[in-house]
Amino acid sequence: MEIRPPSILIVDDDQYIVDLVVEFLTGLSMECVGFTDPREALSCLEKRTFDLVLTDLRMGQVSGMDILRAAKDPDPAGTMVVMMTSYPTVEDAIEAMQSGVENYILKPFSLDALEHIVGVSLEKQQLARENINLKESLALYRASEALEALEAPLELTEYLRMVLEIATGELGGDSANLVLFEGASDDRRVETRIDQNRSGEENGFGNEAMLGLADRVMDESGSLVISDQEGPGPLMVLPLRSGKDLLGLLAVRRRSGSQDFTPAQARTLSIIGSGAAVAVKNARLFNSLQEQYLGAIRSLVAAVEAKDPYTRGHSEKIAHYAHLLAGQIGADQEIVDGMRVAGLLHDAGKIGVPENVLLKDGPLTDEEYTIIKEHAAMSERIVKPLHLPEHVMRAIAEHHERLDGSGYPKGLMGDEITLASRILAVVDVFDALTSDRIYRRRLSRKEAFEAIDREVLELKLDGSIVDVWKALVEDDVVIDVEALD
Ligand SMILES: [Fe+2]
Repeated sequence: MEIRPPSILIVDDDQYIVDLVVEFLTGLSMECVGFTDPREALSCLEKRTFDLVLTDLRMGQVSGMDILRAAKDPDPAGTMVVMMTSYPTVEDAIEAMQSGVENYILKPFSLDALEHIVGVSLEKQQLARENINLKESLALYRASEALEALEAPLELTEYLRMVLEIATGELGGDSANLVLFEGASDDRRVETRIDQNRSGEENGFGNEAMLGLADRVMDESGSLVISDQEGPGPLMVLPLRSGKDLLGLLAVRRRSGSQDFTPAQARTLSIIGSGAAVAVKNARLFNSLQEQYLGAIRSLVAAVEAKDPYTRGHSEKIAHYAHLLAGQIGADQEIVDGMRVAGLLHDAGKIGVPENVLLKDGPLTDEEYTIIKEHAAMSERIVKPLHLPEHVMRAIAEHHERLDGSGYPKGLMGDEITLASRILAVVDVFDALTSDRIYRRRLSRKEAFEAIDREVLELKLDGSIVDVWKALVEDDVVIDVEALD
């Protein structure tokens, strides 16, 4: 890495002092610029920054305080300022210290004293810069940790919430909003919105305000810093992008009258936000792949069922029945909701069963029955990439398990079989018995329940679930197979 000499600006209306300091510090391998006219110094500060500014306090119309403010803007930690003065008053000293002056040197000063104070100030400046770098790295580290902690991109909202928490914490914000957009730029709408508010006050950033900000940051590549001390307060807005597309906005705000955000903080926000943009992009890609995959499996299941007129619509019916039954039992809402997917996909593994076995017109040999039994484990493997909730996965994997351990594929017993799996088992058996098969006519409801009662007595099916299902069937919730045709 190239080591750049420290850059120093010297401002004093005494030509002798400017020349002396410039010559001395240049001799110490520093890059010096000196002005006796403070207005020239101000215009120089508009164009470039310095590591250290040495300025006289009283210089006619422009004071050392004006030089200090110009040197500290917009990055207060970026430049150190040392005041050179002959007659400091307590008021001067207080004002200067409050405005961020790092040090004083009293005129006349010795060159040793000057060397010491410049050395100490540059060291302080280095520390301030490193601290900012460290904070940036820390923010990045925390954001990437948060990203890695995700098990599946499905928890995007939770991740984005963490991003907001990191952004407000690291950047000293009072509130933050993150919105994700949908639609083209002329028809942009807020699709997702997450708010974080430390102050407990309303920050007044409605969706309309965020859409307005989106138009303002369209051409920004990094964070946009908006200073508004009088209005709603200093604000930093980062566009979240994927290529040219504006995915959303991340806005951090401080209360009215607070200090402005610095360029270093804008960089930190960009780092935090870049992780968020990648996560949003991945999650959207993942969701669309997941939908495509789910769609593909459903159509394959439908295709398999269609080969056998006797099982047509079986999975759709099971999804409907299992959902109804779980609701009637009073299962947790997430189980009730999950039953539809579990029902639709429980026999997905039949895709892998050869047609001559699946559609055999007659009793199965032991070998063929073994092949049929493999469909439950196969279903589990097929739906694995969907990252379904665990209770849905287990219902699919365990729908042929029986309480006495006689089921398959694992031979689980009693409580080892989940509630969702038991529910699915009851409606699956009921539908199988009351549907025609190539090798037998369907049973009447009465005959079917006699057969199911035997399975309850043999401790295969859960009697309490069967009772609820019987009551539902009596209420005529069952889809009439004939009516489907
Ligand atoms: Fe099955």
